[in-house]
Amino acid sequence: MNFEELKALYLRRQSCRAFSGAPVPRELLEKVCSVALLAPSACNAQPWKLVAVTGENVKKIAPCMQGMGMNKFASDAGALVAVCAGRSNASAKAGGKMVGTDFTANDLGILTAHLVLAAEAAGLASCILGWRSEKKLCAALSLPEKTYIPVVVALGYCADGYAIREKKRKPLEETFTLL
Ligand SMILES: Cc1cc2nc3c(=O)[nH]c(=O)nc-3n(C[C@H](O)[C@H](O)[C@H](O)COP(=O)(O)O)c2cc1C
Repeated sequence: MNFEELKALYLRRQSCRAFSGAPVPRELLEKVCSVALLAPSACNAQPWKLVAVTGENVKKIAPCMQGMGMNKFASDAGALVAVCAGRSNASAKAGGKMVGTDFTANDLGILTAHLVLAAEAAGLASCILGWRSEKKLCAALSLPEKTYIPVVVALGYCADGYAIREKKRKPLEETFTLL
């Protein structure tokens, strides 16, 4: 993929907030997740787990990301993928302590970015859902209590007629400095 093709992928990837309800086949979901899991992480600790549901289970898990009018569309996603913290390693933990940080949140963010872009490249629409209840997710997905789950990614097929929006981003002068 050359730079222009990569840029086109970045421009095409957008938050889909109207899914068709069609399920994402297991093989496609595994293909996308396995590519996303090539993401880099501090000390290659890979401190993550992707926990996915499809089919009828989408309707059971979607309420964990809903309430106050938020994320109603998640019920029609073809799959929901919880981006969860998993086992880290000693180097990442020690290194993080030495520089005064915990790399996990950053690593999970990078994984999430890889996931939505891999999905887009595979023909799947996505929406990152940060409005979620970790407590409800832990219970619904049988994860240990207080598992860190910064986001759930809704994947699927856009509803008919869902248009590509123009990207609204801050100008480069505001967000990039060359010293
Ligand atoms: C950490 C994070 C949390 C988000 N949470 C939600 C959410 O709960 N619901 C939603 O509809 N969009 C959510 N979004 C999507 C953003 O609103 C969206 O990425 C942003 O407005 C840019 O639009 P685009 O993704 O279409 O380019 C989230 C995005 C990120 C990165």
